[in-house]
Amino acid sequence: MTDHDGHDETRRDTTALGTSGRGTTDDRATGVRVRPGRADDLPALARFADSGNRALWRVEEARDGRETLLVAEDATGPVGTVSIRWDNDCDPPHPWLYGLHVDADHRGRGAGERLVHAAEDAARDRGASALSLDADRDDPVVGWYERRGYRRVRAHEHRWTSVDPRTRQVTASGTAATWVLRRPLDGHDADTRPVTGTETDAGSGTEEAS
Ligand SMILES: CC(C)(COP(=O)(O)OP(=O)(O)OC[C@H]1O[C@@H](n2cnc3c(N)ncnc32)[C@H](O)[C@@H]1OP(=O)(O)O)[C@@H](O)C(=O)NCCC(=O)NCCS
Repeated sequence: MTDHDGHDETRRDTTALGTSGRGTTDDRATGVRVRPGRADDLPALARFADSGNRALWRVEEARDGRETLLVAEDATGPVGTVSIRWDNDCDPPHPWLYGLHVDADHRGRGAGERLVHAAEDAARDRGASALSLDADRDDPVVGWYERRGYRRVRAHEHRWTSVDPRTRQVTASGTAATWVLRRPLDGHDADTRPVTGTETDAGSGTEEAS
């Protein structure tokens, strides 16, 4: 995105970012479909991510293949997004899901679940055996993920940084107390039943920095 000067130009760029396998998945029941992100999604992504810089970072990482960016849309346009980071260092070797967000006016229609399923499909297509993420320990979204087959594998101190996408300089940093949640993918195909069995490191309470 550094070769783009402004939104007027990015809005015209409808090329899918990156080379990630599957294209659009349609859901006629809800009218919500999930497709690869595009540079012209930047204004919507900035709204969802609550930060133009964060959105630009995600678009650039997807363009350069380090991440896959997915967008949920309906007839009104983009309604949600998620990113998958492939060289994750928070729960290696598993890819890392982050930035899941559905517009408040469009929640409760399955867009969030469809985004997560599409991310799982993308991870499966790359041969991943599991998909990981983290969520603040006191956030009810932990239960939302658990109802979709994710299991808490350990407590985590997530070190976050804000980076200026143009200079790549860190502009702010901090830590957040989170749970790492992980879902095995082998033998699953968008199956939302809880996963049975025990993670060897489940509930250890180990604090890790990434
Ligand atoms: C978490 C989030 C992505 C879910 O998106 P969504 O499109 O509403 O997801 P779904 O429609 O698949 O599921 C919504 C759940 O809320 C319930 N729900 C029903 N109506 C709802 C409404 N109007 N608003 C929100 N949730 C509603 C659904 O029944 C469902 O419950 P379930 O977990 O028991 O099945 C969305 O709430 C969000 O963007 N939250 C803020 C950002 C966030 O927390 N991101 C995760 C960071 S780790």
